[in-house]
Amino acid sequence: MGMAGWGGIADTGFSGIPPEVAEKVQRWMDEGPADVSDDAPPFSQSDYDRAPFTMTHFLRPYLLAFLGVFTLIALEAVMAQAGPLLLQISIDEGIRKGDRDLVVFMGVLFAVFVPVSILIGIVRTMFAGRVGARVMANLRVQLFAHFQRLSIDYYTNERAGRLLSRMTSDLEPLQQLFQQGLVQLAVQGVTLAAVTVALFILNPLLAVITLAAVVPGTLLMSLWYRRVAEVAQLRVRDTIADVLAHLQESLAGIRIITAHNRRRRTVIEHQNEAGEYLDANDRTAYINGVYGPGAEAMGPFAQMVLLVVGGGFVLDGRVSLGELIAFVLYVGAFFAPITELVALYNIYQQGRASVLKLDGVFRTEPSVAEKPDAYELPTVQGEVRLDGVTFGYDPHTPVISDVDLQIHEGETIAVVGPTGAGKSTIAKLLNRFYDPQAGRVTIDGHDVRDVTFASLRRQIGVVPQEPFLFGGSIKENLQIGNRTMTDDELLTACERVGLGPLLERLPEGLDTPCLERGVALSAGERQLLALARAFISQPRLLVLDEATSSLDLRTEQAVENALDVVLDGRTAVIIAHRLQTTMRADRIVVVDGGGIAEVGTRDELIAAGGHFADMWATGGVG
Ligand SMILES: Nc1ncnc2c1ncn2[C@@H]1O[C@H](COP(=O)(O)OP(=O)(O)O)[C@@H](O)[C@H]1O
Ligand SMILES: [Mg+2]
Repeated sequence: MGMAGWGGIADTGFSGIPPEVAEKVQRWMDEGPADVSDDAPPFSQSDYDRAPFTMTHFLRPYLLAFLGVFTLIALEAVMAQAGPLLLQISIDEGIRKGDRDLVVFMGVLFAVFVPVSILIGIVRTMFAGRVGARVMANLRVQLFAHFQRLSIDYYTNERAGRLLSRMTSDLEPLQQLFQQGLVQLAVQGVTLAAVTVALFILNPLLAVITLAAVVPGTLLMSLWYRRVAEVAQLRVRDTIADVLAHLQESLAGIRIITAHNRRRRTVIEHQNEAGEYLDANDRTAYINGVYGPGAEAMGPFAQMVLLVVGGGFVLDGRVSLGELIAFVLYVGAFFAPITELVALYNIYQQGRASVLKLDGVFRTEPSVAEKPDAYELPTVQGEVRLDGVTFGYDPHTPVISDVDLQIHEGETIAVVGPTGAGKSTIAKLLNRFYDPQAGRVTIDGHDVRDVTFASLRRQIGVVPQEPFLFGGSIKENLQIGNRTMTDDELLTACERVGLGPLLERLPEGLDTPCLERGVALSAGERQLLALARAFISQPRLLVLDEATSSLDLRTEQAVENALDVVLDGRTAVIIAHRLQTTMRADRIVVVDGGGIAEVGTRDELIAAGGHFADMWATGGVG
C-alpha cells in the first residue's frame, strides 16, 4: 500500500479531523500498516529488561492467571477425592444403620460431585492451556527480540543450527512445563495432600501403617528414576539438537552436497545422527519401562497389606468396614500422583535446564550497543574519517591497525586490495556492525558510537558482498530499503539498475515471489535487486562491497551510470573487484598489510609506482 492510495486524506481539510490527528494519520499511512498495530512488541536497542531470567521472574506477570488455575485445581482435586469418603459414610451410617434416606442422599451428592468436578476439569484444562500458550508465545517473541538486539558478531560466532535449537528444542521442555507440567504438578500435589488428609481423618493408625508399607519403596525407586532419567533425557536433547543441526546444514548446503556427489554420504551421516537419537530414546524407554510398572505395582501391594492388616482391625472392631473400603480405594488413588509427580519432576528439571540456557542467551549483551544518551545523527553531509582505527574480530589479532583515512563530502572512493586484506571489515566499521578496539570512526565529525543506530543506518546504504533475499515478493524485498515508495518509483529504480527486462519477463512483475535465498534468481540478478534496494533507500552515504562482482561488464556499466544519478554529490565508498570499477573514483585507497598502503588519484598512484601501479600493469586488483 503506497502513499498514492491514501494521499488525499490528511489534506482534504475534512472538518471532522483536527489537524494534529490528520498529521498523525498521514504519518501512519506513510509508514504502512505494520507500525500502526497497538500491540507491536516493545523493542529497544538500549533500554531493555536486564534482570536475570529465572523461573519466578519469568512467571511473575502470570501470577494471577496461575492462581486462578490453582484454585480450580484444588476444588477439582477435593471434589474428585470426595467419592470414597461419601462411600464410607453411606456404608457405615446408612447401610449398616438402615438409614435408606442417607444412602440415597449420599448417592445423589456423589452424582452431583462427579459432573461438577468434570466441568471444573474442562474449564481448568482450557484455561491452563491458554495461559501456557500465552506464556510461551510471549517468551518466543522476547527471545526473538533479544536475538534481533544482539550484534553481528554473535551470529558469526554461533552455528545457525544451535541458535535454531534455542528456539525449538530448548523451548519445548518449557512449553511442556507450562502447558501441562505446572498444572499437573498442582493437580497431583493437591490430590496427594487431599488423600493423605482423608486417610488421617478416617483412621490415623491405619494411615501410618499404610504409609510405612509403601513410602520407603516408592521413595527409593523414585530417587533412582530421578537420577538416571535426568542423564538419559539430557542425552535425548543433545542428540536431537545434533539431528537438527545436521538437517539445517544439509538443507542449506544442498547445492554443494549435490555438486560434490555427497548425497549418499549425507544420508549416511544423517542415519548416524538419527541413530544416536534412537539410542538415547531407547535408554529412556528402558528406564520408564522399569520405573512405571514398578511403581504401579506398589499400589496393589499396599492394597494387599491393607486388606490383611486392616481386615484384622475390622475383625477386632477397631475399624469400620466402610473405613476399610474407603482406605483401599484411597490407597489406589494415592499412587498415581506419586508416579506422576516423579515424571513431572523430570519435566520440571528439564524446564529449569532450559531456563538456565535461556538465561545465558538473555544475559548476552550486544557487544555493539547503542548508548543510552545516543542522539540522532543529523542529515549526513558525507565527510567520513577513520582516526587511528585498530580492529580485529579477535581483539588480539588485529585485521587493520592504526588506520587513518579521510573521505571528503561527495567524494567517490574506490577501495582495492588483496582478498582478506580487510576491505569488507572497513565497510562493516562504517555502519557500526563492529566497534574498533582503538581509534574512532566519524561521520561529519560525529563518532558513530554516539548516535542512534536508526539514524546512522538509515543514512548509510551498505550493499554487502553476499546479497540476501527474503521469502516474500520482489516488491517486499525492495521495500526493505524504503517502504514509502510507490510501485512506479520501485519500477523506475529497478529499471535504472537494469532489472527492467527481468521484471517484464515475470508475469507477476514486482509481485513475483522470491524463494528463500532467491534460488530462482541468478547471482547477478540478486545483486541487482540488492543494489536497487540500496538505491531506493536513498542513502546519504553509499557503501558497495564488491556489489557488482557477479555482473557482466555492460550491466555493471549501467549500474554505475545509475549510481551517478543516485549519488548526485553524495559520498560513496566502492570496494572494487576489478580495475574498471576504479575508473570513476575520485581517489583510490589500497588496503594491504593490515592498513592503508596507498591513497591517491589513479594517476598519482600509477606515477608513484607502488601496489596500484603493479596491479594496473598486470590488470588485476586482487
Ligand atoms: N566474522 C569474522 N570473524 C573472524 N574473522 C573474520 C571475520 N570476517 C572476516 N574475518 C577475517 O578478517 C580478515 C579480513 O576480512 P575481510 O575484511 O572480509 O577481507 P576482504 O578484504 O577480502 O573483504 C580475513 O583474514 C578474514 O578471515
Ligand atoms: Mg570482502
